[in-house]
Amino acid sequence: MGRKLVVANWKMHGNLAANKLLLQEYIRRLSPLENTSVVVCVPYPYLAQAQSILQNTNIAWGAQNLSKDQVGAFTGEVSAEMLKDFGASYVIIGHSERATAYCESDENIATKYAQAQKHGLIPILCVGETLIEREAGVMQMVVGKQLDTIINTYGASVFANAIVSYEPIWAIGTGLAASSDQAQSMHEFIRGKIEVLDKDAAASMKILYGGSVNPQNAVQLFVMRDIDGGLVGKCSLNAQEFEGICSAVA
Ligand code: PGA
Repeated sequence: MGRKLVVANWKMHGNLAANKLLLQEYIRRLSPLENTSVVVCVPYPYLAQAQSILQNTNIAWGAQNLSKDQVGAFTGEVSAEMLKDFGASYVIIGHSERATAYCESDENIATKYAQAQKHGLIPILCVGETLIEREAGVMQMVVGKQLDTIINTYGASVFANAIVSYEPIWAIGTGLAASSDQAQSMHEFIRGKIEVLDKDAAASMKILYGGSVNPQNAVQLFVMRDIDGGLVGKCSLNAQEFEGICSAVA
């Protein structure tokens, strides 16, 4: 599985001045870490800033969404090529905050996934169930279906070297993270599902956990066998907390 990976998801936070300080703190605190790869996904307008501050460091950057289309009359959309122009190497796809607020369908998400890979971006595909679905015991069915839309269209091989982030919706921004057993069990399910179709893809993909990761729960989560790191929202906005999470991995 190799190094662990921690991805910061800034969501719609930041401004030029605050980002500059935060990124400089990231560099100071996180560059020395040897066993953790770090990626920061910033709002579109700050990609240029991330590029100028992070280039020549070991911290990579990316976006939080992209267009399913390549180019054309799509007002307000941002293409994969545009992200590449600013040195982005990762892109979050299908985050539940987008899926619910902007009615993003599984089919759209699958197209975006393919679009990202076609242009050399590493997709970070978010999957996860609601609280009602977990309480009904259908969480594996829900996550399985989210993966199936991609598998049925493009095959399981597209998961090679890609990233899936298991983000139970009830854990995002609530302060209530999944337990390490709940997360491990879903991660094992996800890897197993890919493994029966493509062993190499399952071995090379990373499966992150996202949802209220903090410096206190990071160690318990990240020691689990199938948890390859984390996708971090709130705590990534504070360099000290984010460092606590990244070094928990180490
Ligand atoms: P959170 O967000 O860490 O604030 O729960 C995680 C995410 O939505 O990626």
